[in-house]
Amino acid sequence: MPIPFFDLKKQYESIKAEIDGATRRVLASGMFILGQETEAFETEFAEYLGAKYAVGVNSGTDALHLAIRALGIGKGDEVITVPNTAVATVCAIEMAGATPVLCDVRADSMTMDADSFASVITDKTRAVIPVHLFGQTAELDAIIGIARQYRLAIIEDCAQAHGAKYQGQRVGTFGDIAAFSFYPTKNLGAYGDGGAVVTDDPQLAEKARLLRQYGWRSRYESEISGVNSRLDEMQAAILRVKLKHLDAWNAARRERAAVYTEMLPNKRVLSPVEMPYGEHVFHLYVVHCAMRDYLSAFLREREIGTAIQYPTPIHLQQAYQHLAPAGSLPVAEKLAREILSLPLYPELPLVDIHAIAAALREFET
Ligand SMILES: Cc1ncc(COP(=O)(O)O)c(C=O)c1O
Repeated sequence: MPIPFFDLKKQYESIKAEIDGATRRVLASGMFILGQETEAFETEFAEYLGAKYAVGVNSGTDALHLAIRALGIGKGDEVITVPNTAVATVCAIEMAGATPVLCDVRADSMTMDADSFASVITDKTRAVIPVHLFGQTAELDAIIGIARQYRLAIIEDCAQAHGAKYQGQRVGTFGDIAAFSFYPTKNLGAYGDGGAVVTDDPQLAEKARLLRQYGWRSRYESEISGVNSRLDEMQAAILRVKLKHLDAWNAARRERAAVYTEMLPNKRVLSPVEMPYGEHVFHLYVVHCAMRDYLSAFLREREIGTAIQYPTPIHLQQAYQHLAPAGSLPVAEKLAREILSLPLYPELPLVDIHAIAAALREFET
């Protein structure tokens, strides 16, 4: 495809010497799991965010799962999140033994609607997981205000928002605990699976550290029951290299998003809304179009790659139909019919954006 949806090879080529040096360093060290690289990455990532602790784990899903368990939430407890997220968010709630409850989202930010969140709180609710979707932060003041009022824990799902800011402060530092994914396509992506639990609370950090390795404080002595969810040294070393570039890459994403927004005619294809309270890091550039399927076919014919994140809200997927009836979360359901992600990554050539914008203008006429 002449304009692919994304191209991870370009990024590797731009930092090849640094990455190759880091991977050779790990190979020569003979240490592959939970060693110096992981420890250094945890310190550097926490520092970058402005948080006290980061605990490297195996994936973003595990980061959410262990964050929920670290809070002591499990069987019989309800955790509220949104239906327009990676299924991982809901999957993690279930992995912890808790019950997922869904609320609707806002049409502008596409993130959690605070009023809808308040409307599904019950006496079993223990936590809320706002998802900072596509690089845009959720409306944290309103959500945190409600959560504090009902004494609910706040778990930020930051899998799509490394470096994004809410009122000048990086996400992952607002709730009680946060989860990051380092899946390869993320703004900060490893070359395999990876994730991190982030918190300012020393007890939650300690609990996450125990949970990620069989509940061990000392080897072969399980203090609590845990799992195997360790960040490996190779991924940690790669993430340390990439973390140094994250701000520049996010700036490149924002620059490209601004070019799109400026070039789109905004008649039938509407550009995403950047909420004034935050700094979007454009993990994805997601347009709205009432004729979305026609638009994606139109772009495919012109060999422009697009994607739909996510085509089916969680409660309309077979496994999760028990969570909410069809029609009960109307904003998320409408968004799923209308959203389309255009190519956006830091190395995306500007000429490609111009070609995509030209195709979209042709679509509008
Ligand atoms: C919003 C969100 N939450 C959680 C996850 C889970 O992360 P991972 O794929 O690393 O398990 C992802 C990524 O897929 C995500 O986009």
